[in-house]
Amino acid sequence: MHLNFASILFILGCTISTCFSKIFETTDALPLEYDFVVVGGGTAGNVIANRLTENSAVSVLVLEAGGLNENNLNLVVPSFCTRNLLPNSPVDWNYTTTPMPGLNNRSVAYPRGFVLGGSSSINFMLYTRGSSEDWDRYAAITGDPGWSWEHLQSYIRKNERFEQPVDHHNTTGQFDPKVHGFHGINTVSLTGFPWPINERVIQTTAEKPDQFPFNVDMNSGNELGIGYPQWTIKDGARSSSATSYLAPKFLQRHNLQVLLNARVTRLLSRGKSFHGVEFTVRGSTFQVTAKKEVILSAGSINTPQILMLSGIGDSSKLFSLGIQPVHHLPAVGKNLSDHPVLPLSWLVNSTDTLDTAARNATLLAEQLKQWNDTRTGPLVDGVFTHIGWFRLPHNSSIFKEFSDPSAGPNSPHMELIPENGNVRPPTPPTGNFLVLPAVVVSPLSRGEITLNSSDLLGHPIINPNFLDSDFDLFAMKEAVKAARDFISAAAWNGYIISATNNATTDAELEFFIRNSTAAIYHPVGTAAMSPKGASWGVVDPDLRVKGVEGIRVVDASIFPIIPAAHTQAPTYIVAERAADLIKAAWEGQMY
Ligand SMILES: Cc1cc2nc3c(=O)[nH]c(=O)nc-3n(C[C@H](O)[C@H](O)[C@H](O)COP(=O)(O)OP(=O)(O)OC[C@H]3O[C@@H](n4cnc5c(N)ncnc54)[C@H](O)[C@@H]3O)c2cc1C
Ligand SMILES: *[C@@H]1O[C@H](CO)[C@@H](O)[C@H](O)[C@H]1NC(C)=O
Ligand SMILES: *[C@@H]1O[C@H](CO)[C@@H](O)[C@H](O)[C@H]1NC(C)=O
Ligand SMILES: *[C@@H]1O[C@H](CO)[C@@H](O)[C@H](O)[C@H]1NC(C)=O
Ligand SMILES: *[C@@H]1O[C@H](CO)[C@@H](O)[C@H](O)[C@H]1NC(C)=O
Ligand SMILES: *[C@@H]1O[C@H](CO)[C@@H](O)[C@H](O)[C@H]1NC(C)=O
Ligand SMILES: *[C@@H]1O[C@H](CO)[C@@H](O)[C@H](O)[C@H]1NC(C)=O
Ligand SMILES: *[C@@H]1O[C@H](CO)[C@@H](O)[C@H](O)[C@H]1NC(C)=O
Ligand SMILES: *[C@@H]1O[C@H](CO)[C@@H](O)[C@H](O)[C@H]1NC(C)=O
Ligand SMILES: *[C@@H]1O[C@H](CO)[C@@H](O)[C@H](O)[C@H]1NC(C)=O
Ligand SMILES: *[C@@H]1O[C@H](CO)[C@@H](O)[C@H](O)[C@H]1NC(C)=O
Ligand SMILES: *[C@@H]1O[C@H](CO)[C@@H](O)[C@H](O)[C@H]1NC(C)=O
Repeated sequence: MHLNFASILFILGCTISTCFSKIFETTDALPLEYDFVVVGGGTAGNVIANRLTENSAVSVLVLEAGGLNENNLNLVVPSFCTRNLLPNSPVDWNYTTTPMPGLNNRSVAYPRGFVLGGSSSINFMLYTRGSSEDWDRYAAITGDPGWSWEHLQSYIRKNERFEQPVDHHNTTGQFDPKVHGFHGINTVSLTGFPWPINERVIQTTAEKPDQFPFNVDMNSGNELGIGYPQWTIKDGARSSSATSYLAPKFLQRHNLQVLLNARVTRLLSRGKSFHGVEFTVRGSTFQVTAKKEVILSAGSINTPQILMLSGIGDSSKLFSLGIQPVHHLPAVGKNLSDHPVLPLSWLVNSTDTLDTAARNATLLAEQLKQWNDTRTGPLVDGVFTHIGWFRLPHNSSIFKEFSDPSAGPNSPHMELIPENGNVRPPTPPTGNFLVLPAVVVSPLSRGEITLNSSDLLGHPIINPNFLDSDFDLFAMKEAVKAARDFISAAAWNGYIISATNNATTDAELEFFIRNSTAAIYHPVGTAAMSPKGASWGVVDPDLRVKGVEGIRVVDASIFPIIPAAHTQAPTYIVAERAADLIKAAWEGQMY
């Protein structure tokens, strides 16, 4: 295979910044083959690229459809993260879901990072690992004890580099150092500027300890309760897979190359043996050979799309779209799961909320100057003050109809994530708010990703099917009640002025929930792991695509069930273990 380098932006052996402007104009046809080709320079893909190139004898090419993650303050300033949700963001794939019956036939926006670092470059930076039971369930489902909480501890630590927050406040009692890694690659830190409502939240846990217990560290494996958020933030700025796993010292490796604006259209095979990928750069089509494996890390939406465009999926459906089937694997794109989120808000008796600066350009400019000059101040964190995880009571009536979908008795069904202000677009023109987004973290609804056509550059059809299951609706109603119980604590007296929604009866609550629920952007399950030899699922426990050779999937699509977690840390953990699985598979032949 050969690649024509004309007009290709090519990054090689130097920092991203210095190479960004280096556009190779040569028309020489250069041989182009690598040991591994990674499709997608996102959260997981950059981990694989980094770890495999630790061995200088191994060559890796990363093909990323988006551009550079630099020169865009919205990707760097933590507090600006919600701006990445604005329509027409240049770093978004601009997806929208289908109309969903569970949401009164509404479609919702479905952002995905279209930039180096993928969704880790645009996400809200919460670092949550899930419960130990989540991981032990993956081990049980796949039959591979390597996916258990205990076994994954070394991979958690390879990823995590726990650091001091920028305000250097006394963090004793806000996390448990015993459960953290301090020598990994991706920085994790506590909040670096004090939120004015911290005392009220903590007082609520003291007032209502049965319902809202304080949890000193929800990343210990025991997730339940309310505690301080941990963020993928380093020195007051976002830490993404691009800033960490592709830091300049790693990009200097001669055996690691990253090509931006390179959109993979399909994987190339002879029969069921895959050996390379086809991609486009500014309208021209190229091919590159993977001598060992193609690693598909395009995320839960694009990974199943690329598999199907490459002939791997439900053969009869592919055939009817005019795509030559290569391998019948009907689970591709199925079982899409995500967390539905309902933003609940209250008007508050304070101007010390994020709403104030969001409406005052002068104040915001002062805050940005402080951030720019010293990396301190109110912009150094994401928008959540705390995170809380809760269970339905064991005698809840819903368990007569559904068996408990949580991973176990110490895993949550619901989550509340306090925000000191309403700064998600569209922001209200007046008022100061407390927002408690309510999330169902053990949903039973399952959706799917399907192809709209054989168009290699078209959008897939995305249907998360939110609130299809009555369990999810029930849990959301309970989450609304829990949020109201939360703010009814004396700690909030004189602070809460009024609710922005008072739905009370069952019917009112159902209408409100179906009318206002949105996505939290945690899609998983579309290339799910299952035991080796299983008749369902897409990948084996070692992440190889079932029934074909030469492709592994390493991204959030491989979770067979959604974890009770924001999904970036779980994705990093999967990618760290995947890198070791790949190294082990080729041991002796190159290591
Ligand atoms: C707005 C938002 C907020 C979020 N907030 C949080 C949070 O606070 N905490 C948390 O834990 N999680 C959060 N998440 C979820 C989390 O970021 C994702 O689950 C995780 O980053 C997914 O990683 P991934 O590797 O599977 O995919 P991604 O990181 O999305 O990587 C996929 C990469 O592949 C590239 N790609 C796709 N198709 C192609 C193609 N055809 N050719 C070449 N490249 C391609 C993409 O451009 C992208 O760079 C959020 C997500 C979003 C969108
Ligand atoms: C999303 O829309 C923005 C604004 O039009 C654009 O810059 C960007 O390239 C689009 N993303 C993709 C993947 O086309
Ligand atoms: C949603 O759409 C379906 C199919 O078009 C229709 O039957 C149903 O009545 C609609 N539901 C609502 C709440 O509008
Ligand atoms: C930090 O706080 C803890 C308990 O709140 C206290 O015991 C400890 O002395 C404090 N450390 C410093 C350096 O002030
Ligand atoms: C969806 O996942 C479940 C396990 O959670 C599995 O039993 C089922 O077969 C999957 N469905 C498809 C279509 O793969
Ligand atoms: C906006 O912020 C500036 C700087 O803090 C302040 O002087 C000004 O009064 C504020 N404007 C309004 C309308 O509150
Ligand atoms: C940030 O600081 C740099 C110099 O370090 C300056 O060039 C730039 O204008 C500043 N930006 C803002 C928004 O203050
Ligand atoms: C569940 O048990 C508690 C006491 O433990 C009781 O107060 C409550 O009414 C019970 N709820 C249901 C639905 O039975
Ligand atoms: C599917 O294709 C049709 C016809 O080209 C188009 O009108 C429609 O918008 C597409 N749907 C999606 C989800 O892109
Ligand atoms: C707002 O707070 C002030 C004290 O800070 C108090 O006097 C006033 O009553 C509060 N207003 C409301 C509506 O609670
Ligand atoms: C909710 O009820 C409170 C108290 O009766 C009232 O002040 C508030 O305006 C109501 N909110 C809405 C949106 O109706
Ligand atoms: C339904 O949603 C619309 C659009 O967000 C909103 O204007 C309206 O107030 C909502 N109605 C209820 C009852 O939640």
